[in-house]
This record gives sequence, C-alpha cells and structure tokens, in this order.
Amino acid sequence: MNDRPAPQIEVFEDREALADAASGLIAERLARAVRQRGRAAFLATGGSTPAETYRRLSRAPIDWSKVAVGLTDERWVPPTSPDSNERMVRETLLVGPAAAAHFVPLWSQAQGPEAAARLAEPDVRALEPVDVVLLGVGEDGHIASLFPGSPALERGLDPGARRLCIGVPDGLPAPPQARISLTLPALLHGLVIVLISGTAKRQALEAALAGADLPVRRVLAQPRVPVRILWAA
Ligand code: 6PG
Repeated sequence: MNDRPAPQIEVFEDREALADAASGLIAERLARAVRQRGRAAFLATGGSTPAETYRRLSRAPIDWSKVAVGLTDERWVPPTSPDSNERMVRETLLVGPAAAAHFVPLWSQAQGPEAAARLAEPDVRALEPVDVVLLGVGEDGHIASLFPGSPALERGLDPGARRLCIGVPDGLPAPPQARISLTLPALLHGLVIVLISGTAKRQALEAALAGADLPVRRVLAQPRVPVRILWAA
C-alpha cells in the first residue's frame, strides 16, 4: 500500500455499538479541534448507514456554533426530496445542540450538477482544514458519488484534482441519478472514518485492502491521512 500500515477493519458487536463508536470518534476529534484552534469542520457522508451515528453525534457536548458541517456528496435532488443527503443530515445531525452548527450544502438552484458544483466549490474550500471525514461505501466499492464505471470517476479520484467538487452525470452502471461529489483531494483530510455494515460491504473493503482497484482503495492506499474502518454485521 504505502509506508502507512494498511488500516484494519474494526469489528463491533452490533449496529448500536457501531453508531456509538463512530459518533464518539467524530465528537472527540471535533471537540479537540474546537479546543485547539477555535473551530472544527466535518464532512458527512450521505446514504442510510450513518443516520444512527448522526443522531448520537447531535447530542455530543461540543460548542457546535464553532463547527462547520459539509457533505461528501449529494444527489441531484432538492433538499425537500426524501433522497436528499442534505435533508437526511438536517433531520438526524443538525438537531438539538448540533442545530447551532454551520451547514454547507452542495445542491442549489443551478442549471445542473456541474454548475451547482462550481457554485459550491468556494464554500467547500472554505471548510478546510477539515478535521473528520465520514465516508460510506457502496457494495461496488464506491465512495461519495465516485462510482466504478462512471465517466466522472477518474476526474473525481485524481489525487492532483484542482476542483474539490464536481458534477457527476447519471448513467449505467451507476449512479442511478445525477450527483454532486467531492473529489479525492477534498476527502483526504484530518481523520477519515469509513463506516460500513453488512457482509457485502465488508467483502468490498476486504477486496480493496487486498488490492482490487475499487474507488475506496484510493482512500485506503494513500499516505496522507489516517483511516479507520468501522464495521458491524
Ligand atoms: C450517497 C452516499 C454514498 C453512500 C453509499 C452507502 O449519497 O448515497 O454518500 O457514497 O455512502 O452509497 O450508502 P448506504 O449507507 O445507504 O448503504
């Protein structure tokens, strides 16, 4: 992989314990950043896996007014849609104490995903330095909205990409709907936590750890930032 030891899959007894561990790890990093530099920034994955983690995280005793929350990616739907990652984060994380956090959306009333990505770029850049990145993984090994077979994949995984945020067209095999995604350089900051559950995703992670060139491998096999993989059946 590189001179940083390959991350190991950390196994938790069930999904409750997984959500406790993930939310505790994120909270600890954000609280430390607020103590040390008066601010903190967190990039939140979309999808369904993290919802329970976000509910716990929303109750963490952090000065949330000093925390900025962004997204690793977004579906090309308005925040009123049940498919919206913004909606999921607002409903599960940005509630209670965490409602005081500053949220940076990716979707906007632009002509299309690429136009919206260009509009979001300055706000995503202003989040840096990011302290914690939470990534989900698809059964196909995708991260954020960087899917195997997508025409935007190489652009998104380019370690030298100048853009932090790009539009991803829908297509076959994926994604089923157009997306906005952060690029690899935008995702490799602070501590990257890969949060997965179920057998199929564990198999995808094990394949990537063994060398399969899946998008998630670009996160596992890089020397820049520490990565932790948290899994429960
Ligand atoms: C999204 C995500 C995506 C997600 C994986 C896993 O918009 O869906 O950001 O990368 O993390 O697809 O999704 P699940 O947690 O729903 O399995």
